[in-house]
Amino acid sequence: MKILLDEQQLSSGVERLAQAINQSYGSRPLTIIGVMTGSVVLVADLIRKLEMPLRVGVVQTSSYQGTQRGSLTIHSEMMLDVANRDVLLVDDIFDTGNTLKEVMGRIHQLGPTSIQSAVLLFKTGKQEVDLRPDFVAFDIPDEFVVGYGLDHNDAYRNLPYLACLEPSDLSTPS
Ligand code: IMP
Ligand code: MG
Repeated sequence: MKILLDEQQLSSGVERLAQAINQSYGSRPLTIIGVMTGSVVLVADLIRKLEMPLRVGVVQTSSYQGTQRGSLTIHSEMMLDVANRDVLLVDDIFDTGNTLKEVMGRIHQLGPTSIQSAVLLFKTGKQEVDLRPDFVAFDIPDEFVVGYGLDHNDAYRNLPYLACLEPSDLSTPS
């Protein structure tokens, strides 16, 4: 496994993301919707750096089996009322963009005042949708990454750094 972003780099990235979000919203109350499970660490770190009054909800999606994309499933509806609210959708990574686009569409139907999106990582060259997240901490190359909330078959989410999964890691029994 090769480290792509260490703890210090991740922390500065989240700080930059928070500053941009604080600047954009000022003191307007915000409803954060975290796309689970990958954004669990980012949401926890990010919300403690945001200064406006905020509420936190989650939506659960899944699209990968191992390193292969399957079809996107949204497992549960938003737990929080988003009508007439400023909503910020938070996800770990923008890869093809299908997840964010789909979840944004769902939120849109619920009548929010506004919707923006924030991601820790933007994987370059994979986009399949005409949408760019509003806030991005890092652009990364097209590699399968784990750690800081991101998983491979539900493993590695607890790594405090972000690492590229290499072929030799895939053959290691867990
Ligand atoms: P998208 O719909 O292709 O943008 O995929 C987004 C979702 O796939 C993210 O929310 C992640 O959970 C997952 N994903 C995409 N790329 C990676 C990766 O490199 N490592 C781990 N999960 C990933
Ligand atoms: Mg995800």
